[in-house]
Amino acid sequence: MSLNDLLKKRNSVRAFIEKPVPDELIKSIFTLAQLSPSNCNVQPWQIHVVSGNTKDALKDNLLRAVMSGNEPNPEFDWKVRYTGTHRDRQYESASALYSSMNIERSDKNSRLMALVRNWEFFNAPHAVFFTMEKYLNIMGAVDMGIYAQTLALLLSQNGIASCFQGALGQFPNPVKELLKIPEDIGILFGMSFGYPDKEAVVNTTRTDRAAIEDSVVFWD
Ligand SMILES: Cc1cc2nc3c(=O)[nH]c(=O)nc-3n(C[C@H](O)[C@H](O)[C@H](O)COP(=O)(O)O)c2cc1C
Repeated sequence: MSLNDLLKKRNSVRAFIEKPVPDELIKSIFTLAQLSPSNCNVQPWQIHVVSGNTKDALKDNLLRAVMSGNEPNPEFDWKVRYTGTHRDRQYESASALYSSMNIERSDKNSRLMALVRNWEFFNAPHAVFFTMEKYLNIMGAVDMGIYAQTLALLLSQNGIASCFQGALGQFPNPVKELLKIPEDIGILFGMSFGYPDKEAVVNTTRTDRAAIEDSVVFWD
């Protein structure tokens, strides 16, 4: 599939079938993702791919942490309060998601339940945690974003769906404990991946994009 087609095909998928992706295919995809560029070629990404029993145990521990009522304690600054156009787009993307599931904006309980699906990995057979040394801060985060998009496109090329999830960096303690991630390494975000559940209405969610004139200026 051409890159043009891949870019049009990829979208966030939030319901998966149980069928796991073959190990060899996963390894070949992550091998290619290593080709991602990074500042000074530092390659800051330290990636954890969880499947099977480890993923199930992690899901239980994460749900316990989320339901405990404790505040999220992300290791990087995710607390941006979007304003203006950014806020409008944030609102529109949430609205696209909830209306695909027939959830009214006023229905806080259903919205909460939909949010909690993040920490169940949306039933995906695999999840990724994108971690890096904390001191790298924004320089590392740029490289991690490039890596993650490379990965998403590689997955998509192989018929594998995914969803980036900032939510997976919100409760780092159970993840770090189970995956033995040291203190100086932080979880930036995560991603669930697997084969899409084609029957799930949540997967009909689509977002649009601003016109090119709103984002790009060409200078002669
Ligand atoms: C860094 C990042 C974090 C995200 N975090 C979440 C998340 O926690 N939960 C979720 O359901 N979607 C999450 N998304 C998905 C975005 O909502 C989605 O990419 C956006 O609405 C555009 O839709 P598309 O991916 O279908 O093109 C995240 C995307 C990115 C790039």
